[in-house]
Amino acid sequence: MSVTNLPPWAPAEALSGASYSAAELSADGDRVFLLEQRELPVVERYVTLTTPAEVAEGIRAMVVRGAPAIGIAAAYGMVLAARAARGEGAEGYLHALRRAGALLDASRPTAVNLSWAVRRALALAEQHAPRDGEQRFQEMAAFARALHRDDVAACRAMGRLGAAHLPDEGAILTHCNAGALATGGYGTALGVIRAAIEAGKRLRVLADETRPYLQGARLTAWELHKDGIPVEVLADSMAGWLMQRGEVKAIVVGADRIARNGDVANKIGTYAVACLARHHGIPFYVAAPWSTVDLATPDGTAIPIEERASDEVGLIAGKRMVPEGVRARHPAFDVTPASLITAIFTERGEATPGELARLAG
Ligand code: MRU
Repeated sequence: MSVTNLPPWAPAEALSGASYSAAELSADGDRVFLLEQRELPVVERYVTLTTPAEVAEGIRAMVVRGAPAIGIAAAYGMVLAARAARGEGAEGYLHALRRAGALLDASRPTAVNLSWAVRRALALAEQHAPRDGEQRFQEMAAFARALHRDDVAACRAMGRLGAAHLPDEGAILTHCNAGALATGGYGTALGVIRAAIEAGKRLRVLADETRPYLQGARLTAWELHKDGIPVEVLADSMAGWLMQRGEVKAIVVGADRIARNGDVANKIGTYAVACLARHHGIPFYVAAPWSTVDLATPDGTAIPIEERASDEVGLIAGKRMVPEGVRARHPAFDVTPASLITAIFTERGEATPGELARLAG
């Protein structure tokens, strides 16, 4: 693994469409670049990874995070596996790809985009295993790049749909980071806000998720500020008060997994925001690509909720905030019931949570 402060790709290579990107594949397909999101907003730095195991560790440790972005990173990890197995016959190739897939899939449990991307890569591997090693590698790289491009296109499509629902002016609250940093580029929830602003609406963003991981403060504020979109950070406990005062016009969040009945798993704290929104009569929208919809999961009770390390809550920037010997709880996600959600925006269209399956096609 190596580290650089500049985007390590030529501008024409970046699929994110921005000057920064959560994950990119090198032109030769031999390296994966991840923006080291744990160091934002202080340092903008990229790590270069060369094995599927390094990519899996980057996902586990949250160098890259966000449901669509970890799916893309995993697909790029599968390209590294296909490259390393160029000299193998069909059986050796499949064995290597399945091993890499299992490693990547196990790196985080809640966001379904991860297993979705790995499953698609493995389906391609089974289909082209008998072919020449160089050809398999090139096909896997083309597959992963297409997955990345499709995600950016999906963000733009759901952005256009969602933008029409936002008011012409005022503050929109978002929780955690569902922006360019969490996706292939442009963002899901932040894509909706970006599209509304591009359409001429005068919006500003209230960004929360200040604990456990400060992703509203560190990431959403970083990318919106960088892109010139007005943003203020809220400590999570402030959201209710601002809603009571009428300051919040709408809420848009992303999702890590959407069950068949429209229940939505998203960053811990989303459920509390949705309850507050209902109490105050404020629309609560979810934006996510179809790869986040898991029709095989009937409802939110069946979604696996990741429990992360206690120290990620107990320490801030290495400094202890909880007495030594006391455990801090760290469920990383919660489930917002479908009944609290006004509408879900996807690249396939918009729906109330109860009508979501209609978009399955
Ligand atoms: O733990 P993370 O950062 O991977 O979780 C990501 C989130 O929960 C995001 O807020 C999100 O909405 C899903 S990614 C667009």
